[in-house]
Amino acid sequence: MNEQNALPAHIAVIMDGNGRWASRRLLPRTAGHAAGLKRFAEITELCADMGVKYFTVYAFSTENINRSAEEVNGLFSLASKAIDTYVEKLMRKNIRAKVIGDLSMVDASLAERIRRAEERLSACTGMTLCIAFCYGGRHELARAVNSALAAGEREFDDGTLGRYLYTAGIPDPDLLIRTGGEKRLSNFLLYQCAYSELYFCDTLWPDFDRTALEAALEEYSKRKRKFGR
Ligand code: FPP
Repeated sequence: MNEQNALPAHIAVIMDGNGRWASRRLLPRTAGHAAGLKRFAEITELCADMGVKYFTVYAFSTENINRSAEEVNGLFSLASKAIDTYVEKLMRKNIRAKVIGDLSMVDASLAERIRRAEERLSACTGMTLCIAFCYGGRHELARAVNSALAAGEREFDDGTLGRYLYTAGIPDPDLLIRTGGEKRLSNFLLYQCAYSELYFCDTLWPDFDRTALEAALEEYSKRKRKFGR
């Protein structure tokens, strides 16, 4: 186990600040999400190039469904467009993609397109991009308990639930970044972030560039990880 890591194997990001980025430019919130998507694609590629093994992003939470219909539909149509725009690019970069969340919240045709995109990228052997979409940490935990009970588990130890989470088989995040100035987890990876290093910055997600990522990595490299010891 590395005490002072040069590079996190797994980076997770709460991409916050799209709405404020847009309103500062007198643009609709959906324009902020579109800018956020571009940034997400760029940072994904950067992480893969740096040698990060797992990159997880919070793209849409179970709570986000309560935003205005216009914003929710805008995000769903952005997700659909992202599949058209980025699946080939991800394939060329050998990036595997996994979507975690409750896809029963979106219409069946979008859910099917997401599953097909995942399937097409499943043979890639480079970085794993994990997209939390219609995801909530408490929902994931409740689902995991139900799955574990259905599988006949009766005794739970520290590792039992992890095997029933969406993220089974994926190591826990080493570094969790939240942009946009808020300092909370917002129901993201509640189980998996038990020992993650937390990094908060004021930069709004659409402005989070290579320099901002490098600042987060620099800070991470100075942290002494103790894992409770
Ligand atoms: C939080 O910022 C961000 C989101 C709810 C959406 C994140 C989505 C993207 C970055 C685009 C990629 C998305 C898909 C669907 C592939 P906020 O809007 O809450 O920001 P605010 O706090 O400034 O209002």
